Amino acid sequence: MVNLARVRQAYASAAELYIERLGTTHQVHADDLAFIGRHLAGRPGTVLDLGCGPGHLTDHLRSVGVDAVGIDMVSEFIAHARATYPSGDYRLGSFEDLAVADRSVAGILAWGSLIHLPPHELDGVLAEFRRAMVAGGALVVAIFVGDEVAAFDHKVVTAYRWPVDEFGERLARAGFAEVERLQRPGDGTHRPHAAVAAVAT
Ligand SMILES: C[S@@+](CC[C@H](N)C(=O)[O-])C[C@H]1O[C@@H](n2cnc3c(N)ncnc32)[C@H](O)[C@@H]1O
Repeated sequence: MVNLARVRQAYASAAELYIERLGTTHQVHADDLAFIGRHLAGRPGTVLDLGCGPGHLTDHLRSVGVDAVGIDMVSEFIAHARATYPSGDYRLGSFEDLAVADRSVAGILAWGSLIHLPPHELDGVLAEFRRAMVAGGALVVAIFVGDEVAAFDHKVVTAYRWPVDEFGERLARAGFAEVERLQRPGDGTHRPHAAVAAVAT
């Protein structure tokens, strides 16, 4: 809870800048948009965009026919998303407690939003994702990659990098079978990144 409050406060303070720098799909790598679409477009049923931030990926999903709902714990982001995408569905909430029925959602996008979780809290959050998802539902996540699990100074607030294989093992333990992985090495501007898609077993 201490960490949650710290992350919420940090994003509330940085929301305006985040929206300006990263808040549209033009700022998302084309390979990432394609990856997200490949695994979530065309899914019948509700797809949750957890840690939706400015809401642009929720809107992108809706534009490809997905019944997507954006959820974030930062009210500044939810207010921005509702104003920018008025036909969308954006809710204030946290992914530790999704407030949805068991086995009720068809998919979950957690794009860059698990990065601030202290590693010992990841299993609990993945268990909550699995509880909410129908069998066969799709989970798509983006993480930062490193040789070992380690904290680093993210621009907004402390984040963690993961070896992709270790992250995949956590997914498997929570009841998700990996189906695709997309990795990009770091460059002068971006850290090493991975997207992982998995289905609920
Ligand atoms: C790096 S940003 C990613 C935002 C968006 N998904 C994107 O791709 O731009 C991380 C987001 O996760 C949200 N977040 C972090 N922890 C959360 C939690 N426990 N519950 C809900 N949202 C959370 C933050 O408020 C922030 O909007």
